[in-house]
Amino acid sequence: MSDRTKPDAQTGMRKGLAQYGDAEFSLFLRKAFIKAMGYSDDALARPIIGITNTFSAYNACHRNVPDLIEAIKRGVMLAGGLPLEFPIISMHESFSHPTSMFLRNLMAIDAEEMIRAQPMDAVVLIGGCDKTVPALLMGAGSADVPAILTVTGPMITGSHKGERLGACTDCRRLWGQHRAGAIGADEIEEISGKLAPGPGTCMVMGTASTMALCAEALGMMLPGGAAIPAVDADRLRHAEATGARAVALAAEGLRPSQIMTAGAFDNALRVLQAIGGSTNGLIHLVAIAGRLGVELDMDKFDRMGVETPVLVDLKPSGQHYMEDLHRAGGLAAILREISGHLETQSLTVTGRTLGQEIDAAPPGWEQDVVRPVSRPIHQGGGLRVLRGSLAPHGALIKQAAATPALLRHEGRAVVFSSLADMAERLDAPDLDVKADDVLVLQNAGPKGAPGMPEAGYIPIPRKLAAAGVKDMVRISDARMSGTAFGSIVLHISPEAAEGGPLALVRDGDRIALDVAAGRIDLLVDEAELARRRQGWSPPHAAPERGYKKLYWDEVLQAEHGCDFNFLRKHPLPR
Ligand code: FES
Repeated sequence: MSDRTKPDAQTGMRKGLAQYGDAEFSLFLRKAFIKAMGYSDDALARPIIGITNTFSAYNACHRNVPDLIEAIKRGVMLAGGLPLEFPIISMHESFSHPTSMFLRNLMAIDAEEMIRAQPMDAVVLIGGCDKTVPALLMGAGSADVPAILTVTGPMITGSHKGERLGACTDCRRLWGQHRAGAIGADEIEEISGKLAPGPGTCMVMGTASTMALCAEALGMMLPGGAAIPAVDADRLRHAEATGARAVALAAEGLRPSQIMTAGAFDNALRVLQAIGGSTNGLIHLVAIAGRLGVELDMDKFDRMGVETPVLVDLKPSGQHYMEDLHRAGGLAAILREISGHLETQSLTVTGRTLGQEIDAAPPGWEQDVVRPVSRPIHQGGGLRVLRGSLAPHGALIKQAAATPALLRHEGRAVVFSSLADMAERLDAPDLDVKADDVLVLQNAGPKGAPGMPEAGYIPIPRKLAAAGVKDMVRISDARMSGTAFGSIVLHISPEAAEGGPLALVRDGDRIALDVAAGRIDLLVDEAELARRRQGWSPPHAAPERGYKKLYWDEVLQAEHGCDFNFLRKHPLPR
């Protein structure tokens, strides 16, 4: 009798039995139903590898998940395991009302509870579209069953009139040209069929690419997996190898909590700076870390930005796309450049350290996608944490995607009190706005909208865009797509809907931004702010039922990753 079939072995089909008050009966019943699926006793005695099926007909970024599952199953069976796929919520950015961020924690709960509820000795997580990788890692981190991640991979690029196009940096750039009248209605319709030419995730350094690279740096993915295009045969070979490795993980018992350590998060944060990654990446890494009881130090993150310049020449900060990064050697090429700053002893899902994986990677070659530290894309790191009287608990700017001349700026506030207010007035011909003003959006934070939508990329008012204005300082408590660009301050905390100073800004106030000093300040005296505070009330009533109520009651501010407090390993005191 193998260990797996001993009555006391908490593995395989014996794991997490449904409770009927008689464990042997529970097992007997479970076997009766699983045998209805046609499995033999031999198959059922193997290590069981769960596979999260995150396919959805609403999610083009996960269009290749069925193919990946086949490859993962092949890898599992070649290694002697039994693969069992199970459904998990799937979320696409454009098909999640009010925003995918509102639903990320729901997906994390789904992942955690289904990994825990069903018998599996290890689990393969299939992520891709922006919120799915963080949600899966949050859930798997909390469930702490041996887990390994793979991703759907980036899309290949499209083309229009000889110009290479990619979602969604070029979506925004070309839409901006359409708003300014340079691209007509017929052409923009034609372009909509070319921006996302196939399966996979946005192929610029957006949130999906950022999280895939950070997850690989975190040690949760087999080397090389982050950048392989969705349609590349290597993507299937990586999936097969992931399935095989999952069987070994089941035997070794290596858990996410042993991989996602403080040192591993430092590596992921360092990579986030070096790739000029999405601002969303920071929120998600903070949330994943919170599941494992790891607190990320924002001052340390800023210091990493000073030490580690942006090396990856990808849109929106640079010019290339993810398929180019794959051809240039993927994450290994980046890790090799910054290895002197990495925690190379951190264990990865391979069972070896990150340092050993860097040494084992194929040697580098002459290419122009990953620059050497001596010749960076942007000196001073991609992201900068800001604090000041307007953001006592923090804010964030992607300085690598900003206009250098606006990184130190003082201007007059032009305030929009909500997304609806902005939609109504932004393009009004009589809007009192000039190019050196600061556009302010309130009530678009975690609770305000709700769900902290990617509305921080406030469009340039039509009349200024038509006059050739390309960038302005724009500030909000919202998030921004990683594919967007501009001098945009995000994640202001506390948010306006919680009564933060952002809620007290009025038209005509002076606002000072100084990115080098890490400051964002509202230049209004305290007596006036106290008077305004007296007259402040929340923008809307608390929801009364459903997931929206749970979200409202539990969601934390951006500096805590917008996780639900009760899902953290160590909930914050109220
Ligand atoms: Fe899915 Fe961009 S919409 S990754």
